[in-house]
Amino acid sequence: MIRSFLFVPGDSERKLAKAGAVGADAIIVDLEDSVAADSRPRARELAREYIEGRDDAWLRINPVDSGEALDDLQAVMPAAPSGIVLPKARSADDAARLATKLDELESRYDVSAGTTRILPICTERPRALFSLDSYVGATPRLAGLTWGAEDLSAALGARANRGEDGHWLSPYELARSLCLFAAAAAEVPAIDTVYTDFRDAEGLASFAARAARDGFTGMLAIHPAQVATINEAFSPSAEDVRRAERIVALFRAHPGAGALALDGEMIDKPHLAQARRTIALATKLKTRQQGQGDQQ
Ligand code: COA
Ligand code: MG
Repeated sequence: MIRSFLFVPGDSERKLAKAGAVGADAIIVDLEDSVAADSRPRARELAREYIEGRDDAWLRINPVDSGEALDDLQAVMPAAPSGIVLPKARSADDAARLATKLDELESRYDVSAGTTRILPICTERPRALFSLDSYVGATPRLAGLTWGAEDLSAALGARANRGEDGHWLSPYELARSLCLFAAAAAEVPAIDTVYTDFRDAEGLASFAARAARDGFTGMLAIHPAQVATINEAFSPSAEDVRRAERIVALFRAHPGAGALALDGEMIDKPHLAQARRTIALATKLKTRQQGQGDQQ
């Protein structure tokens, strides 16, 4: 379960050196938009060195139809990244094509078969929005779905993607919601997109809180200062856990009941499922924290 994915430009040794120490659940070494074409060969080398031996490092390759993706993969797959972030996916077919390529590269580079996950950015191209249900059952490697507004607005020729109040304009709200629905349909986590104003801590906190409220389970970050806020937003609070435990206890005490009342509110099966999910997530986070404590 990954709450925060921190993007790091693959050509920046300085940022790569910092990335591991900021508490991100996962790091995405980028070979795409944050790296100039001339720097890409060097970035591939740095990415491979960085990812080798880490278990939290992902790689963003170039789009599968760009002519660069294969070189990206060949250079870095020997380091066995946890997963591949796939930008500008046209549909799940691109993810399936990547999965087939990974089958071959895992065997060539002695990486355990099927372990490299795929996280598509599923809304960067206008046509992608019309086939988001294609992710259902597309590949067992699918780790989640995330979305992007920057390339989508560029493709539309739009002048802005957020309004004066900072909120997404309606085309991007739609893309965000579709990503959320597609992820739920495919039964994988939905990861909210980057908040690019990295000096605006308040704006980030409100975007992350809204994402967690809506059902996203994590968010992309572009700056170390964003990571703690994101982790917190996607971790259940002590109060969330207490309420979840009360819901589970109430259903346990009334085994035959479908709907029950708690604090003057009706609760039924979906609430019980959500409560169990909250408890499972809190337990997982606690176990992980204890594991990290033991290592120190
Ligand atoms: N990962 C690791 N370290 C980072 C970082 C990142 N994504 N972004 C910034 N840092 C480091 C900087 O190197 C700096 O450390 P230093 O003082 O030792 O050099 C420190 O954090 C503070 O950075 P700051 O000066 O506030 O920002 P900046 O002007 O150096 O960088 C960005 C701003 C936006 C260029 C930078 O955050 C970045 O490159 N983000 C990722 C971009 C990306 O990958 N985009 C693709 C996905 S949309
Ligand atoms: Mg992009």
